[in-house]
Amino acid sequence: MKAWALLLASAAAVIARATACVLPSTYRWNSTGALASPKSGWVSLKDFSHVVYNGQHLVYGSTHDTGSAWGSMNFGLFSDWSNMATASQTKMTPGTVAPTIFYFAPKNIWVLAYQWGPTTFSYLTSTNPSSVSGWSSPQPLFSGTISGSSALDQTVIGDSTNMYLFFAGDNGKIYRASMPIGNFPGNFGSSSTVVLSDSTNNLFEAVQVYTVQGQNQYLMIVEAIGANGRYFRSFTATNLGGSWTPQATSESRPFAGKANSGASWTNDISHGDLIRNNPDQTMTIDPCNLQFLYQGRATNSGGDYGLLPYRPGLLTLQH
Ligand SMILES: *[C@@H]1O[C@H](CO)[C@@H](O)[C@H](O)[C@H]1NC(C)=O
Repeated sequence: MKAWALLLASAAAVIARATACVLPSTYRWNSTGALASPKSGWVSLKDFSHVVYNGQHLVYGSTHDTGSAWGSMNFGLFSDWSNMATASQTKMTPGTVAPTIFYFAPKNIWVLAYQWGPTTFSYLTSTNPSSVSGWSSPQPLFSGTISGSSALDQTVIGDSTNMYLFFAGDNGKIYRASMPIGNFPGNFGSSSTVVLSDSTNNLFEAVQVYTVQGQNQYLMIVEAIGANGRYFRSFTATNLGGSWTPQATSESRPFAGKANSGASWTNDISHGDLIRNNPDQTMTIDPCNLQFLYQGRATNSGGDYGLLPYRPGLLTLQH
């Protein structure tokens, strides 16, 4: 190759690399206000899991009523976040608390995983995921327990050979279980491995794990309890079965929290879902267009945890 051709080829390679975004080392977001209020009888909307289905937003979440009961719901399909406030809210039976929804491409089936079902984690399947009544009966997803605490806030993600379950325990630990992808949907069994360990506040709950599009990289976010509210800390890995490296983990420079959310209506940036650009089991996010559907609550709210007035909000990464 002539020198000029080499030069052109390497310039083209630089441009190609530049168009695939990478995760920033310092995150800065803007935020909407609260996008929806709970319908009558509920005090909060929480723990959102989101996919794009038939070109529209499909969101499942947890609820809490005016007494002491947790439950779950979905929003009717809506085309724009500004329409979330008027989307229908439908109670789900069974109560699929802290739901994780995704499309399992190898078997052409939708999966909804959740906690507090018949087993530690359970799942339902459907071919019509926008209907709360189209789901199967509960199946066991994970039947293990953890010592000294309760397993909660599962998420599921796959690579080309395995499916992985990650979960938290409100105890400073993040756990992992796995199975060959050919066995899924199915039961991860009862054993798990601790993949992260820290103080209770630093690794509290709401773990989510994503494939970063265009990079040989996975992103894990974990909700922490800070001095100024709930916030998310991030970790990265090159292998879902491997170890996790801290990325944006301080409350002053978090993945997302009061320090960088741009939100004025809430101090808490709490349990939610990064906006995936593909609903499948790879849980893929696009670092060029990062958005986070989270739960927040009015800065002047307080009292009983179950009655806190959590509402959905949306963060958009600022470049
Ligand atoms: C957030 O920033 C994006 C550009 O990155 C802009 O399109 C959007 O309108 C902003 N949203 C809010 C709520 O300010």
